[in-house]
Amino acid sequence: TLTGCGSKEEYLVVGTNAEFPPFEYIGGATGDEVLGFDIDLAKQIAADQGKTLKVENMKFDSLIVALNAGKVDMVAAGMTITPERKASVDFSQPYYEATQVVITPVTNVSINSVDDVKGKHIAVQLGSTGDIMAKELSDNVTAFNTGFEAIMELKNGKVDMVLFDSEPAAKHLAKNPQLKMQKLNFDAEYYGLAVAKNNPELLKQINASIDTMKQNGSFDALLAKHMQ
Ligand code: ARG
Repeated sequence: TLTGCGSKEEYLVVGTNAEFPPFEYIGGATGDEVLGFDIDLAKQIAADQGKTLKVENMKFDSLIVALNAGKVDMVAAGMTITPERKASVDFSQPYYEATQVVITPVTNVSINSVDDVKGKHIAVQLGSTGDIMAKELSDNVTAFNTGFEAIMELKNGKVDMVLFDSEPAAKHLAKNPQLKMQKLNFDAEYYGLAVAKNNPELLKQINASIDTMKQNGSFDALLAKHMQ
């Protein structure tokens, strides 16, 4: 898009999977806007570079591929920093601490420890850390493109439990009183923004933006706006 006076608008293109409230989800007045904590964070990062944010919504397991193919500049998707992912992309400083939680019907009383998860039929989001962890604990894992579909499978009685990140799990539960979540003692996970390994300049700018936002209070304001 060209703006007035012949000047060309510059974009920061962010890849996300808008199936992960409150970090990224579809909503707004027109019902087709991508909103959420990560999007607001990315907007500020773009603004700090004098750029306009452009959001590309795609499947979660396509994000790293798109980043390394140069289709997006940055991934903001509640993505957990893991050693495996660090082998193919670079991550910003961690910006959020999360854990996996077990979602079951409220009537389920048989899962009270990580040990109880072993061998259960688990629904997860494809390519997520929940997917990877579930496969370490059980041979009976069904992966879906969205967390929403995983929750549907549980509501339909087709699986014993869903393994999902704490904040989006809480958002889904708010709409499903027949479900409960348990934290158990899964390890903490840290979300980072991802950039291609050949882009250390952008990584530096991202970290500087996060530092500034933490110092001037706007990071906490964003947390207060989006988290429950
Ligand atoms: N934190 C988890 C992971 O990195 C799940 C992230 C899912 N994010 C999303 N936007 N769907 O694997």
